[in-house]
Amino acid sequence: FRTLDDLDVAGQRVLVRVDFNVPMEHGVVTDATRIERALPTLTTLLERGARVVLLSHYGRPKGKADPALSQRPLLAPLEEKLGGRKVAFAEDCIGAPAEEAVARLNDGDVLLLENLRFHAGEEENDAEFADSLAQLGDLYVNDAFSAAHRAHASVEALARRLPAAAGRLMQEELEHLEKALENPERPVAAIVGGAKVSTKLELLGNLVEKVQLLVIGGGMANTFLHAFGVSVGASLCETDMADTVEDIVRKAKQADCDILLPTDVVVAEKLAPNTPHDVVAVGEVPADKMILDIGPMTAEQIRKRLGDCRTLVWNGPLGAFEVQPFDAGTNVVAEAAADLTAEGRLLSVAGGGDTVAALVRAGVLDRLSYVSAAGGAFLEWLEGKTLPGVQALRDSAS
Ligand code: 3PG
Repeated sequence: FRTLDDLDVAGQRVLVRVDFNVPMEHGVVTDATRIERALPTLTTLLERGARVVLLSHYGRPKGKADPALSQRPLLAPLEEKLGGRKVAFAEDCIGAPAEEAVARLNDGDVLLLENLRFHAGEEENDAEFADSLAQLGDLYVNDAFSAAHRAHASVEALARRLPAAAGRLMQEELEHLEKALENPERPVAAIVGGAKVSTKLELLGNLVEKVQLLVIGGGMANTFLHAFGVSVGASLCETDMADTVEDIVRKAKQADCDILLPTDVVVAEKLAPNTPHDVVAVGEVPADKMILDIGPMTAEQIRKRLGDCRTLVWNGPLGAFEVQPFDAGTNVVAEAAADLTAEGRLLSVAGGGDTVAALVRAGVLDRLSYVSAAGGAFLEWLEGKTLPGVQALRDSAS
């Protein structure tokens, strides 16, 4: 695919697809990370004299205008991050309001369009809607890796209508993801946690063929243990997944992928802060208790095994990390990964909704090689899927 360096943007209207789907409470942005991550692209374009038109979705308004999901509240944080530069706003992302606002732009100006998903055509990847967007620009830049798994008009169809390039964040995401899984230094480890096996079937199926060590934690480890006939007490567990687990284990054996499950666990009667808890060996979980974290022995085992690996892909916490002390297992492993990364022995890439929150809590966010800003897109990439937004960029370059 092309990058910003392949476009001559001076004086051009550049449509930049960003992902400003940021957490907001009562109209105030509570985490501006996604805005910050778009800055390298925006400042590059502005320095080069482009007229920048920002396109994003916000929430899921289902094709209808919804004032509660307006992008107007993004203006203030965006202007602040741009060093006080004024950002114009258009009440609609297509039609007269957008066209007039674009026509008023001078070189080095920025315009934010209203929520793309106020039009059903966005999610339908509708040709006419994409044409209306395309009219607004001369060039197209996609900097929204985290929306690249959506075959939506601003992500897919638009890339096929204008000269297109990847923005800096998109480029950075793709480079790191490729180093981690498509072309990695071996041995490769994957840590997969989270509540349910059922939501990560394809992901596990793809990973066992690509990694040499698969560490399973979180609620989904209970499902594995249960499938092996180990009692998990009152733990969260998908009892109907035994055949699926067997399939995954068989596939792993064929591919020479070692699956590491907890050997000791932290149990308690309920999930509550600092509730009484014990460490027990797997197989000795009392009937009335729940597994809420991996035990210290397991954490140590993971730490040791990571020491033999060159690459790590991480998705999902290893325990109920939101509630102390059940964040301990995730924290120990995160610390180990950060140390190995600092020593230059491990390339570590993490991503997916809860994972980032868990790594922030563990205090290692800046100490891994790369943490993706994407949730669903990161998961689909781990599943081995081709992301429509990435494909469209590749096609447009060839
Ligand atoms: C995200 O927040 O992961 C992206 O913005 C995609 O949002 P969506 O799941 O509503 O498509």
